[in-house]
Amino acid sequence: MKNILVTGGAGFIGSHTCVALLEAGYSVVIADNFSNSGPRTLERIREITGRDFVFCEADVTDRAAVEGIFKENNIDGVIHFAGFKAVGESVEKPLAYYYNNLVSTIELAKACLSHRVKNFVFSSSATVYGDNKAPFTETMPLLPTTNPYGETKVISERILSDAAAANQGFSVTLLRYFNPVGAHESGLIGEAPNGIPNNLMPYITKVAKGELKELRVFGDDYDTPDGTGVRDYIHVMDLAEGHAAALKKMSGFSVYNLGTGRGTSVLELVTAFERANSLKIPYRITPRRAGDIAVCYADAKKAERELGWKAKRTVEEMCRDAWRFEAGLRDEK
Ligand code: UFG
Repeated sequence: MKNILVTGGAGFIGSHTCVALLEAGYSVVIADNFSNSGPRTLERIREITGRDFVFCEADVTDRAAVEGIFKENNIDGVIHFAGFKAVGESVEKPLAYYYNNLVSTIELAKACLSHRVKNFVFSSSATVYGDNKAPFTETMPLLPTTNPYGETKVISERILSDAAAANQGFSVTLLRYFNPVGAHESGLIGEAPNGIPNNLMPYITKVAKGELKELRVFGDDYDTPDGTGVRDYIHVMDLAEGHAAALKKMSGFSVYNLGTGRGTSVLELVTAFERANSLKIPYRITPRRAGDIAVCYADAKKAERELGWKAKRTVEEMCRDAWRFEAGLRDEK
């Protein structure tokens, strides 16, 4: 397998994965419509890797556009990142979320089958475990999620699993991400959400920069050691390398958690950020955020056993790299 179509390759996880793939010797075709990203990231991928790639400005829900990409490029495998991902927004705009996230998955899988592309990797999420008890293992029954975004992940998983079962030789790997944070060590690419961030790490970096006054810690009365929510934060470059490892082992239908297997509370992350960057993050405890669970972390053993991949970067490195990117970020997305 040589030539990989990466949808959403200008986005946060997609761009870091393109770096990992180019560095591992793959050729890459990026398809992105810049709905939550920008062309500067593409230049940065070239700058980091010293390698070029094909770029198609395209919406992958558009059948004709997808068909064109498959016709013009000799694709061996697809990694499908492109999708809407804001939990709160998905509650307000369910149809946009179902349409965008499901139609893109269906169109890409159909194009794979008609062009005999045998390998499909899908960006899924730990959200599919719902309120199961951590650590989450791949064999757990999936529980309802609390929002349309989460449901699009559950339904996409189902669509791809059925497509793999019905088409011999069509290999599908579902990768369930835990909480990706940090940035490439160069500080050249990272997470640059539009508007006020929803997620913890980008919110912390905005507070560190002085653009937001203080962090709101959503609840300190959870059943956790310090009462704040526990998550499995994973460095985005570890996650990116997990994709390269998954591509090497494609066969049949597989599901892997990509996490570290360790939980970190909100307050522990704040302390780690302060220590890593010698900064103070003012915060205030506020009520819980609707839809949040107390504890979410991976059982990460299956990926280690079968893919030979393991997250190796520390929480301090995640904090250092997230800040390095944010601190150097000019308004140039
Ligand atoms: N939190 C705060 N203050 C903030 C933001 C978050 O206290 O300003 C807390 C949350 O309550 C939670 C933790 O920080 O305990 C992490 O919250 P994030 O929003 O960063 O991440 P989530 O775990 O809620 O969500 C992430 C992804 C989703 C995915 C979900 C489950 O953003 O896409 O994990 O896998 F669905």
